[in-house]
Amino acid sequence: MLTIAVSKGRIYDEALPLLAEAGIIPTDDPNTSRKLILATTRADVQLVIIRATDVPTFVEYGAADLGIAGKDVLIEHGAENLYEPLDLKIARCRLMTAAHKNAPPITGRVRVATKYVKIAEQYFAAQGVQAEIIKLYGSMELAPLVGLADCIVDLVETGNTLRANDLEPRELIMHISSRLVVNKAAMKMKHQVIAELLAQLERKVATR
Ligand code: ATP
Ligand code: PRP
Repeated sequence: MLTIAVSKGRIYDEALPLLAEAGIIPTDDPNTSRKLILATTRADVQLVIIRATDVPTFVEYGAADLGIAGKDVLIEHGAENLYEPLDLKIARCRLMTAAHKNAPPITGRVRVATKYVKIAEQYFAAQGVQAEIIKLYGSMELAPLVGLADCIVDLVETGNTLRANDLEPRELIMHISSRLVVNKAAMKMKHQVIAELLAQLERKVATR
């Protein structure tokens, strides 16, 4: 049995057509079902539905053989203990700094609200900027509006969320997309079936 860890929402929605290429079609919809383990049209493949930030953990420990996770999550988690063989090019966005549209440019010491604590620390250190990082779990855009932080580090796709909150994008930290990750032992023990799946996904990604 091959177990693939996926999060509900945009990654699941965008991964479905890719998985279908390998004959993997879940028999339940996680958006309506409360099931956390989904059987698929392939008897040898099941999906486990977990939080996006938990995908590297499940795959590292071998609770899932494979997973699909954003590059942001992988870098923040520190995913040295798993393989990352394929950029699926889904859930694409940018990790950026953003501040109030009237705020002065960032210089000197700054307070930064983000859920990407490690990435933000590394980024500001590399810029030679002293930063106090405030960990949040969501609604980062609110922080500059209520005086909690001078700026945020968050994902930007259309920019609509920033605009709706009178913020503007400032510096690009990195481009983000979702990656297929593989447990190291599974890559050896289940090599043939994983290599086949990788090849099918790779072909589909290349033709999109
Ligand atoms: P968690 O439930 O663990 O807090 P989350 O709420 O951030 O995760 P999603 O919003 O589904 O989960 O995001 C999952 C991944 O999708 C992110 O890690 C990122 O790689 C990508 N992503 C997030 N927001 C966007 C966006 N607006 N546009 C494109 N991709 C995005
Ligand atoms: C993500 C991200 C931004 C927004 C950016 O939030 O945290 O808030 O998307 O996208 P935009 O530039 O197109 O507006 P998401 O929609 O995942 O909400 P959540 O973090 O609350 O789950």
